[in-house]
Amino acid sequence: MTYARILGTGSFLPARVVTNADLASTVDTSDEWVVSRTGIRERRIAGPGETTCDLAERAARQALDASGCLASEIDLVIVATTTPDRVFPGTACLLQERLGIHGPAAFDVQAVCTGFVYALTIAEKFIRAGGTKRALVVGAETMSRIVDWNDRSTCVLFGDGAGAVVVGASNEPGILSSHLHADGAYKELLTVSTGVSERGPATGRITMRGNEVFRMAVTTLDALVGETLAANNMKQTDIRWLVPHQANIRIIAATAKRLGMAMDQVIVTVDRHGNTSAASIPLAFDSGVRDGRIQRGDVVLMEAFGGGLTWGSVLLRY
Ligand code: COA
Repeated sequence: MTYARILGTGSFLPARVVTNADLASTVDTSDEWVVSRTGIRERRIAGPGETTCDLAERAARQALDASGCLASEIDLVIVATTTPDRVFPGTACLLQERLGIHGPAAFDVQAVCTGFVYALTIAEKFIRAGGTKRALVVGAETMSRIVDWNDRSTCVLFGDGAGAVVVGASNEPGILSSHLHADGAYKELLTVSTGVSERGPATGRITMRGNEVFRMAVTTLDALVGETLAANNMKQTDIRWLVPHQANIRIIAATAKRLGMAMDQVIVTVDRHGNTSAASIPLAFDSGVRDGRIQRGDVVLMEAFGGGLTWGSVLLRY
């Protein structure tokens, strides 16, 4: 039996830090409001001309180093992003060229904040089906480019960054199960309403019905965690680490509580990164691996929800 295992991780954040106090100088908000409602203290914002592919490349190179794989050994590249450099070619193709990879399949996945969970699941299916031996899976975003910086209810939430993993074929189980969902009936809750086919090549901005998204997130994640445990015949106590999508500390805490997990079993980066959409889980995962909390053999639950609505989980043994 062939399994898919994470061989190495990497991440990258743009240099510029924007604090809540910085935002309070341009919109009517305060550090106290943002921290108490979301847990976010600061976020990173890409510099002028710094693109999603720039961030993805730095994260990917680090993941390749950590995995001990050469770029030439990668036979599948998937980039999860909502903020591609161009309409086409896909950011995965741009990244492939930067890394000197020529020939193997490369494509983007658009599932907003659940994008990395979708991409990792797709890579796992390719590997388990045979043929693909080493996949590079990246979540990378420049959300700052689609944020409405005059809308205080959304501009305080998002940030830029990238995270990456190299996934390889293995005899030992790595990814144990994945569970993907979507329901387009909720498309208006969280959206960028202007797109190329609806209105031409103008770029829209994020709009959100925050309260409804919050409620949907807590409900869907609650069910998702139950579904994931049941599929693996596991108990809550079998999970060592929760690596959640980093949107809001209150949503993260609700999921941890559902799992009976203390917050010191949860990798939290939302305070420093904000919501980096598809980049948030691989950024958080890399941070837990690099600071030594997540060890080889640990059982890790990744879960996410986002625009679509989409939601999904990956349970893995690192
Ligand atoms: N600073 C100060 N006040 C703000 C504000 C800000 N940044 N943003 C909104 N407000 C105001 C609102 O205008 C509203 O004022 P009003 O009562 O005078 O109309 C008040 O705060 C309460 O707004 P509300 O939207 O009810 O706040 P909330 O407690 O629901 O918190 C969110 C708002 C966005 C933090 C919360 O709904 C949330 O986190 N939702 C989920 C968002 C998310 O995770 N999205 C990403 C999904 S991947």
